[in-house]
Amino acid sequence: MDAILIRQAPAPLRGTVHISGAKNAALPVLCATLLTDGASRLRNVPKLRDIDTTAALLRFLGRDVVVDAPEIRVAEGTCARPEAPYELVKQMRASVMVLGPLLARYGRAKVSLPGGCAIGARPIDQHLKGLEAMGAVIRLERGYVVAEGPNGGGRLRGAEVLFDLPTVTGTENLMMAAALAKGRTTLINCAREPEVEELGRVLNKAGAKVDGAGTDVIHVEGVPPGELGPFDHAIIPDRIEAGTYMIAAAAVQGSDVLIEGAEIHDLDTVVAKMRHAGVQIESEGRAIRVARNGPLSAVPVTTAPHPGFPTDMQAQFLVLMCLARGESMITETVFENRFMHVPELQRMGAQIVLRGNTAVVDGVKALYGASVMATDLRASASLVIAGLVAVDETEVRRVYHIDRGYERIEEKLRGIGARIERVKGRS
Ligand code: EPU
Repeated sequence: MDAILIRQAPAPLRGTVHISGAKNAALPVLCATLLTDGASRLRNVPKLRDIDTTAALLRFLGRDVVVDAPEIRVAEGTCARPEAPYELVKQMRASVMVLGPLLARYGRAKVSLPGGCAIGARPIDQHLKGLEAMGAVIRLERGYVVAEGPNGGGRLRGAEVLFDLPTVTGTENLMMAAALAKGRTTLINCAREPEVEELGRVLNKAGAKVDGAGTDVIHVEGVPPGELGPFDHAIIPDRIEAGTYMIAAAAVQGSDVLIEGAEIHDLDTVVAKMRHAGVQIESEGRAIRVARNGPLSAVPVTTAPHPGFPTDMQAQFLVLMCLARGESMITETVFENRFMHVPELQRMGAQIVLRGNTAVVDGVKALYGASVMATDLRASASLVIAGLVAVDETEVRRVYHIDRGYERIEEKLRGIGARIERVKGRS
């Protein structure tokens, strides 16, 4: 297993970082290729482990997939077996998003339940409830969800589905299922993330009739299976990758970094909080310029579904607050166990007290390098950022978590002056 070694940035970070395509937009779009037998092409796809896992899953299902980053081509064909095995789903929970398209297209699907997750229980009850409302018959069998269309594998029916809470992949799963259902589906209390909006755009490109993606009510007028065609689409930029580099730049005093190919409006709450903390942020076309010259001040943050402060930026922002003057309260409301970076940051000298779902952070003058362990994707990114400012060397272990969601992170950070390298074979 690889590790990442980081030494304190010798000078302010300067230069340009290019943002890759959004992982969490590419994953549902890849699943959407299952809705049609035609050959689809995705462009601006990031080169990441989660993307490879999804490609492997599509191949397991029987589709021919060529990953030629940043392009992926799914050849014409059908799925020989609509089944997602535990070995693939346990590697990546997003695999559960093949359930909606498979059930809609083939009238049946067998998908492993994802099992435990480092950041919270993450059930899929809302996905299943919605599919049942559309007439699916679902049973749980030996760790698998076994689903069948109405009357022994028939076409799903349009329905009204009220989500008990906004779920990103749940909304996406049901949008895909509804695209081929008979009649109109109304999804209420939907997730409004830009990635959901992106899926709506792609489905419409394929011939679906989706209205309202990106708002809390989505209407989908189902079309017969033959009416959805293949698509060619370039994925939107990764707002969380962009936000992560923005925080990295803000963490190192004196930095001035241009984050290129990012959409600032997808990061409005993050930008507002960073500005409050004393970071200078300007938007220049499709680039965001981040500079930090003065001290950082403590600001409170509470995560919430979009357009609230993203849970996927909580760990990185918390590191920034470790370096701020004063006390800040970081409250996590989306996932119940997303503070695993805290004990690792404490080992680097951070002053943080956990009180239920709030981290009370008391800013310190310096963080100190240590050997720390990555526990999930965004937690790993926060440890790398901490390493950029820490005195001495930081070693982040278990970086396979980072490889799930950050393309060439060490190369991109080196490009703006960080001293960071990957070493092979450390667990
Ligand atoms: N939830 C339920 N029941 C469900 C579905 C969700 O109770 O059926 C709960 C979850 O347990 C959680 C909350 O609802 O407490 C929100 O979870 P959501 O379903 O929105 O999360 P997700 O769809 O599984 C996506 C992203 C995550 C991101 C979250 C929140 C993808 C592939 N994943 O997950 O991304 O944190 O939305 O924005 O889109 C990451 O990229 O590092 C990552 C974890």
